[in-house]
Amino acid sequence: MLFCKISCILMKEIKSKNYSIYFSSSGYTELSLFIKANNYSQIFIHLDDNTQKYCLEVFLKQIQKFNFNKILSKPGEKNKNIKSCAQLWDKLSELSGDRKSLILNLGGGVVGDMGGFIASTFKRGIDYINIPTTLLSMVDASVGGKTGIDLGVLKNQIGTFYDPKMVIVDTLYLDTLNENELISGYAEIFKHSIISSSKIFNKLISANTSIDFKNLQTIRNSIKIKNEIVLLDKKENKERKALNFGHTLGHAIESYFLKSKNRLLHGEAIAIGIVLASHISSKLFGFSSKKLNNIKSHILSIYNKVLFDKNDIDKITKLLVHDKKNSHGKINFVLIKDIGKPVYDIEVDNNLILKAFKYYSL
Ligand code: GLY
Repeated sequence: MLFCKISCILMKEIKSKNYSIYFSSSGYTELSLFIKANNYSQIFIHLDDNTQKYCLEVFLKQIQKFNFNKILSKPGEKNKNIKSCAQLWDKLSELSGDRKSLILNLGGGVVGDMGGFIASTFKRGIDYINIPTTLLSMVDASVGGKTGIDLGVLKNQIGTFYDPKMVIVDTLYLDTLNENELISGYAEIFKHSIISSSKIFNKLISANTSIDFKNLQTIRNSIKIKNEIVLLDKKENKERKALNFGHTLGHAIESYFLKSKNRLLHGEAIAIGIVLASHISSKLFGFSSKKLNNIKSHILSIYNKVLFDKNDIDKITKLLVHDKKNSHGKINFVLIKDIGKPVYDIEVDNNLILKAFKYYSL
């Protein structure tokens, strides 16, 4: 416990191109200095009902007092849309937000993506800072400068590349999550290991069900992987595409369940997408069947298996046409030749998708 406390305090920041990602108490120190140095006309804390209830107090206890106004959005992916943005823009305007305002996004992926988007567009762009409160947003959405909202059930179709001024990662907020939300975030940690590092992959696979989802070192390693990829290719023309491993089918599954059946959390859908993409990789690129089976059993040791019938699969494959990685009418997949060796812009036949679902369902 004492060791954790010391290492948490000492955890070094990760530098991105235009901002840094700070961990635990050092983040709040940096934020206080940043606020003092920048003379903002207004500071807005963007929250949803959950983070207002469970995280705001935690946040305010960590940081030196400053004046702020709250701006609230409704929680959940179904509210990550233009209507919510319009309400937030109205609120900023009503509260006399100007170009020298700062938004602090205290929340999960929806708060961060949408808060980043309203910051990037209000008065043609104001500063914002991400303080992610879910595991998913710590290791993925809060880092990398993608902002966005959904268009109907289609995820992240409208958005910008617009960097935050800093990101503060503090595992204190993870105590406010339920178990399902926590394990949802793990899918991105596992994905990062698959596309980049045998060492981390093997460690996660061998830990299996005893993984500590709140371990700050694991979280930091995962953010470091993502940040290194983003530094190579911010606008997702090449290397960044690898971060979409498992997401082509994963997003389609998530969208389908948003509309048709019981909702799946993002990570739960991506976990399935990871198994499917790994199976397709074994067929097209000779990805090792042993590693494929390891991936499937690791995923199924953490996530419940979801049942798909023929009708579900048909509808899911139809949704693939909306994937943002597509171009010139082609559906582009990210696959792997091996752990740490992703390949992107790969066209995949429907038949292989069906076989992958069959493998997942066995
Ligand atoms: N979530 C994938 C990316 O940030 O590129």
